[in-house]
Amino acid sequence: MTTALVTEPDSAAPQLARPFLKWAGGKGQLLRQFQPLLPPSYGRYFEPFVGGAALFFCLQPKRAALTDVNAELIDCYRAVRDRVEEVIAALGSHAYEQAHYYRVRDLDPATLSLPERAARTIFLNRTGFNGLYRVNSAGRFNVPFGRYVNPSICNPPQLRACSAALQGVELEVRDFERVLDHAAEGDFVYLDPPYSPVSSTANFTSYSAGGFSFRDQERLAALFAALDERGVQVMLSNSDVPEIPPLYKRFRIDRVAALRSINAKSDARGRVGEIVIRNYGSKRGRKAAQADKPG
Ligand SMILES: C[S@@+](CC[C@H](N)C(=O)[O-])C[C@H]1O[C@@H](n2cnc3c(N)ncnc32)[C@H](O)[C@@H]1O
Repeated sequence: MTTALVTEPDSAAPQLARPFLKWAGGKGQLLRQFQPLLPPSYGRYFEPFVGGAALFFCLQPKRAALTDVNAELIDCYRAVRDRVEEVIAALGSHAYEQAHYYRVRDLDPATLSLPERAARTIFLNRTGFNGLYRVNSAGRFNVPFGRYVNPSICNPPQLRACSAALQGVELEVRDFERVLDHAAEGDFVYLDPPYSPVSSTANFTSYSAGGFSFRDQERLAALFAALDERGVQVMLSNSDVPEIPPLYKRFRIDRVAALRSINAKSDARGRVGEIVIRNYGSKRGRKAAQADKPG
């Protein structure tokens, strides 16, 4: 095992640091249920599907790599990490108003500075329909204006606390599989992929232009096994649908309940099952099981 960090949040850490983006599948609601399932100690922390980064902001590990295929999201974290005061200033130019929303949505992010781009991402996220992130086939953000009462667009103390938590953290755009190039024995990898649909109408796989197929779920299961083989501690969450557990037969599976609210059909909202798969805990992965064998 490499150097260990305690997973309990540092009591001196700014408690204000919590997700500043609303993210489909965000884990804010599940943090309490996750606490007993976390490894007691670990080296580096990796979150290859970072999204809103709820678990990262809860744990605030000092040595961490947060990655995602969504380049606008990663740029937003980079701006908050490195240029938070400019992001706060740029957010000051936005207001909750429909015509303004569509003008900002139509801007080409490539023409904006990093802090302006981050402010645009935060503004569209806080005021767009249901906090969704969805792009068209050309990769342009296409979520309609959302109806809210006085939505919070900029929370400077929260953004500054998030910036403090992100100091020294690696932020990269990359496919989840590349965590294998970086994670070592004793590290902790938390995998929170786009959900497998819980019904034919509840398809949550359009986070990126490419979506997330069952083939990707199989790739992910192979990655989980490869990390286990290396002695990395791995925790994965997914919706409790029949296709997923058979991919992780050797590992420990716990069931927790999540309140899922992003769904086009409001009657499909409510509590749905969530599974947490781990290679540590009582039912152990191959590496740990081998270590237990006598002789
Ligand atoms: C369920 S969300 C993660 C939610 C996050 N745990 C939170 O608390 O907000 C899944 C994320 O996976 C990302 N993603 C989709 N396909 C990916 C891939 N092939 N590699 C890396 N990230 C991917 C999406 O952009 C999205 O941010």
